[in-house]
Amino acid sequence: METEFRTVEGPVLRMVVVGSGAMGLEWMRAVLASDETELAGVVDTEVKRARWSVIRTRAGEVPVAESLDALLRTPQIGRVDGVVNVTPPDAHFPVTARALGAGLPVLGEKPMAASLEEAEELVVLARDARQLFMVAQSRTYEPHLSSLRAHVRAIGPPAVIVVNFLRDEAFDGFRTEMAHPLLVDMMVHTVDAVRYLTGKQATHVYCEEYGPSWSRYSSGGSATCVFEMDGGGRFVYNGSWSAPGDMTSWDGEWRVSGAHGSALWDGEGPPVRLSPSAPEHVVLPEPSRSGDGIRGVLADFIRALRTGRTPWGECSNNLGTLAMVHAAIDSARTGRRVRVPNPPGLSSVVPDPRRGEHI
Ligand SMILES: NC(=O)c1ccc[n+]([C@@H]2O[C@H](COP(=O)([O-])OP(=O)(O)OC[C@H]3O[C@@H](n4cnc5c(N)ncnc54)[C@H](O)[C@@H]3O)[C@@H](O)[C@H]2O)c1
Repeated sequence: METEFRTVEGPVLRMVVVGSGAMGLEWMRAVLASDETELAGVVDTEVKRARWSVIRTRAGEVPVAESLDALLRTPQIGRVDGVVNVTPPDAHFPVTARALGAGLPVLGEKPMAASLEEAEELVVLARDARQLFMVAQSRTYEPHLSSLRAHVRAIGPPAVIVVNFLRDEAFDGFRTEMAHPLLVDMMVHTVDAVRYLTGKQATHVYCEEYGPSWSRYSSGGSATCVFEMDGGGRFVYNGSWSAPGDMTSWDGEWRVSGAHGSALWDGEGPPVRLSPSAPEHVVLPEPSRSGDGIRGVLADFIRALRTGRTPWGECSNNLGTLAMVHAAIDSARTGRRVRVPNPPGLSSVVPDPRRGEHI
């Protein structure tokens, strides 16, 4: 799938990071560590935090401001080639819309936007501006996930994918106040990984959200969802932020079963294959992708800007991930099994993993 966004030339791309909280610091470090990028500036509505982040990352003489517009007016700003949007979900739409309006490509943290409607509008804005808007689905860049994907091809189309994500995390900040914190802020990773793994989109979902009495979250810190995938298989997600004890990894614990066997993945080490003809566990081959987490995402973003080739996480495709998350929210709210919508801007093709690595 090729899209029409402007490519960028030059040996080094100068990036502005917007949002200098916990994850913003990680993005600043990734931008500073790459040979292909420079940190052009940092924006935070709490400008003291932006200043402090420049000191903490030893970024040097980097301008800071309380808004992107103010930063772009700063005399010492120099050339800007792109924006990394690392604000909380509620600010994703205004910040990305403003950056696209200023003629800049955007690498935005997940979720793409706070609502499907906002996300659809961003797809239109990116298309009209002919700028790349890529969503950073960093957990889909976990190298062992690509090993699991290679194995899924061998066991045949999955009849069932079960993921348990069970942790006990005491966040402060936006997650304690937001609605549906598990589905919007965390399950979005697993949904994106399942789409990457299978090349398929869900057609329907049934979801129950709940919060045990010891939950730290205002609502929806725990949930169970059953997605029907295109072709009839089921993806079952069982997640909680309120599960003390032997916690799963940050990528959860996976079992994928198809006609020719199953694969297990603990979300950290190499996946393990279980085959009816060879009952002993077979450790899968080494990961086929280089670069994990946000550094891999940044490398793909830069490569896309240089080559014009569509990366994983490109906004019109990432609409499919957000549509599954918001259909689960609709189901939890109504108590009914709901159809997963096909948003108008959704690219018709979920990139086929069998065609090789994306980008
Ligand atoms: N990929 C991952 O594994 C991962 C991990 C953690 C967080 N995230 C994502 O990163 C984003 C940020 O999370 P965080 O934990 O860093 O949050 P945070 O609350 O620690 O930091 C957010 C920062 O953004 C600033 N901000 C808010 N609105 C702004 C605006 N309109 N303009 C400029 N700055 C603004 C805040 O002042 C704050 O400093 C979220 O979307 C979150 O889901 C992703």
